[in-house]
Amino acid sequence: MPGSIQQDGTAPDSFISADDGRRYWAGIDADVNGMLGGFPSVSRVDLRGSRSFLAKLGLGRVRGEKSVRRALEGGAGIGRITQGLLVEIAEVVDIVEPIAKFTSALEGQEGVGRIYNVGLEEWRPSDESSPVEYDLIWNQWCLGHLTDRQLEEYLRRCADVLSEDEDGKTRGVIVVKENMSTMGQDLFDEEDSSVTRMDESFRKIFDEAGLRIVKTELQHGFPSELYPVRMYALKPKDS
Ligand SMILES: C[S@@+](CC[C@H](N)C(=O)[O-])C[C@H]1O[C@@H](n2cnc3c(N)ncnc32)[C@H](O)[C@@H]1O
Repeated sequence: MPGSIQQDGTAPDSFISADDGRRYWAGIDADVNGMLGGFPSVSRVDLRGSRSFLAKLGLGRVRGEKSVRRALEGGAGIGRITQGLLVEIAEVVDIVEPIAKFTSALEGQEGVGRIYNVGLEEWRPSDESSPVEYDLIWNQWCLGHLTDRQLEEYLRRCADVLSEDEDGKTRGVIVVKENMSTMGQDLFDEEDSSVTRMDESFRKIFDEAGLRIVKTELQHGFPSELYPVRMYALKPKDS
């Protein structure tokens, strides 16, 4: 893949260490400032952009009713997006987040369902005795902690638990909202042991995971010193 290999031939994602990533996040405060790396003011604009993106996909409140039956937030941190957006539009939101101190305040909150304190690479929905299906799986600012292979496999697991209409067509949608590298290659960050991918790298991984992009948009209104942020809505290619 052009750009995903460094000049010395090493793939940036090969440097990712789950232990180093967990150690970094364990030392971060459980608040919006901690989640957003010192840019807490970005949260409002971010949630507004996400709400508008979802509305264009037909997901929101219809005549006052929540149109999403069950959602999942991957890499949810303290639940900034769950509480600031997803519970407004979903009857129940399940959560995957490896750092338990981030999710402790979410337990028992209205609209919050199952909390899985594992990494996305470890999360197995089918381990549950009662099967679940999701109308929406939201993943934001956390996928850089997965290698390309782990991300592809995680997306496949997500696709397997998307809800279907009565006619068997996929109803559920996966959303990825992530920083974009514009440096012509994916960038490894040793501070939190994550990779910032290029748009091309995401598209290749989506394709390999059997997904197609049904909608994509750049987030507007962020400070210019931040990376560009792109949202993708994904469904299985065969749906
Ligand atoms: C920048 S914060 C973003 C949190 C939330 N998505 C938001 O936008 O407010 C990154 C989150 O990813 C979590 N994380 C780190 N490694 C992860 C992994 N392997 N799987 C899932 N989440 C992970 C961190 O614990 C942290 O909560």
